Amino acid sequence: MDFESLRKKLAEHNQEHLLDFVNDLDEKSKQVLYNDITNTNIAEVVRFFNAATASMDTQTKVDDKMEPIPTEMFGSVTRSGKILKQWEKTGLEAVGKSKVCVLLLAGGQGTRLGVNYPKGMYNVGLPSGKPLYHLQAERILRLQRYSKEETGLSGTIPWYIMTSEHTQEPTEEYFASRNFFGLQKEDIVFFEQNMLPCMSFDGKIIMSNKGKIARAPDGNGGLYRALGEKVLGDMERRGIQYIHVYCVDNILVKMADPTFIGFCISKGANCGAKVVEKSYPTEPVGVVCRVDGKYQVVEYSEITLRTAEKRNEDGRLVFSAGNICNHFFTFDFLKEVVNENEPFLKHHVAKKKIPYVNEQGNIITPEKPNGIKMEKFVFDVFEFSNNFVVFEVLREDEFSPLKNSDKAEKDNPTTAKHALMSLHHRWVLNAGGSFVDKNDSLIPAIPSKRLKLDTTIRKPKTMASDKNGNDRRSANDVDHSLVICEVSPLVSYAGEGLEEVVSNKRFQSPLLLTEKYIKDKEMQIK
Ligand code: UTP
Repeated sequence: MDFESLRKKLAEHNQEHLLDFVNDLDEKSKQVLYNDITNTNIAEVVRFFNAATASMDTQTKVDDKMEPIPTEMFGSVTRSGKILKQWEKTGLEAVGKSKVCVLLLAGGQGTRLGVNYPKGMYNVGLPSGKPLYHLQAERILRLQRYSKEETGLSGTIPWYIMTSEHTQEPTEEYFASRNFFGLQKEDIVFFEQNMLPCMSFDGKIIMSNKGKIARAPDGNGGLYRALGEKVLGDMERRGIQYIHVYCVDNILVKMADPTFIGFCISKGANCGAKVVEKSYPTEPVGVVCRVDGKYQVVEYSEITLRTAEKRNEDGRLVFSAGNICNHFFTFDFLKEVVNENEPFLKHHVAKKKIPYVNEQGNIITPEKPNGIKMEKFVFDVFEFSNNFVVFEVLREDEFSPLKNSDKAEKDNPTTAKHALMSLHHRWVLNAGGSFVDKNDSLIPAIPSKRLKLDTTIRKPKTMASDKNGNDRRSANDVDHSLVICEVSPLVSYAGEGLEEVVSNKRFQSPLLLTEKYIKDKEMQIK
């Protein structure tokens, strides 16, 4: 351990404070710190910081350069009509031929949710008690079967899971302890993203204690660096052509959605995004559009209110394509991004509260942001696509992210649970089933009492809004008639196949429709 020459090297980058407490450390901790620093490319970290912060406080508006996605590149579950079935068939065939994989972004720290284990292990309180990972695994299983039923082809959907230092071990252990939820172990590939040092606002690497650099995962766009030869090679060996990338926290995610995949294939796209219609002009969600002719996600803060409020002749917002972190890539596109474009992706700056060791050697947990994390975003590669498409889906069917604890009003365990149960309730109704109360009276399909505040539920036209179009519903408007209904993903992937089970049947809440439930009922009939 040559600390003197290390100090000199650090001084070249203004980072010699990393050794301020070295003399307080025992030999073992000294070695750990020495390795921690020498394994870090300090010059690169400082370069990343300078590039990321160059335009940090001078954000310019991009209104004048913005254009919506061209109509011919835009598909929609509500407006594309009969061709949707054709797209689904194309997608199911691709699944059946084992050309489709799913790639999960699960390296985030989940700080807002505030649990000390990976978000995918979180149980929002469904009747089945299944955590997010479990629901996702069973959706894969069901889709493989569904594709076989529809096409006669037995395909496999490999599952690539990106974790980070915090989530790697617990995630792998969890999957092993659950016997990979019935999937083949070799069809699940874990890989770890990189961590980057956290920086103070003036460009100094933050120490989390006397002998350790504070680090955070390098954003979900860290995917492209993390994939590397190993994971890409695995995809290539399996003959994967289409990749569906998604976030761990969306409880309604339709993994490898055949309609979306089929739409992208039919359009010959190399990159695509699933979106939901923005609910109101000031909704703080990124919109997918073109800027200077290149595809991009523009954050709400980058546009003026005038642009956010622009409407087409049909009354829809011009910039309505709300990003939900649900993307399609061809293998060739992904490979090119990894091998050629990745170094050109800039880090974004996230101002955060980062625990640090102060000059006196005490560990401080700050109450306001004291530094930055540098993050790449998964969607920053859209600009490299020359054939980009957008597919709009219904928010209430496909998007309810788990971001916060129940202390927050939205995107919390309760809203996620309700969104899933409301979707499954609608599946049962659409398949001809109905729900009755204790007195055998029909429960109306449309709840008669006002719903608990839940942004995943579309606002009826008559609902009161404030001048910005925000709901005025309060968290106290409790839904007394919420039907508790959960359909196991092993029974249905997206509402299909339920007619023979529920048609003309009356159910009481709670209903947990599992394979076993169906078998038991069949036995009773016999
Ligand atoms: P978020 O930006 O919501 O972050 O991630 P998060 O880590 O889940 O939660 P907070 O902000 O700390 O509360 C969106 C998706 O991107 C993944 C997350 O796991 C989630 O699926 N992600 C985020 C990564 O895979 N790596 C990262 O470095 C950051």
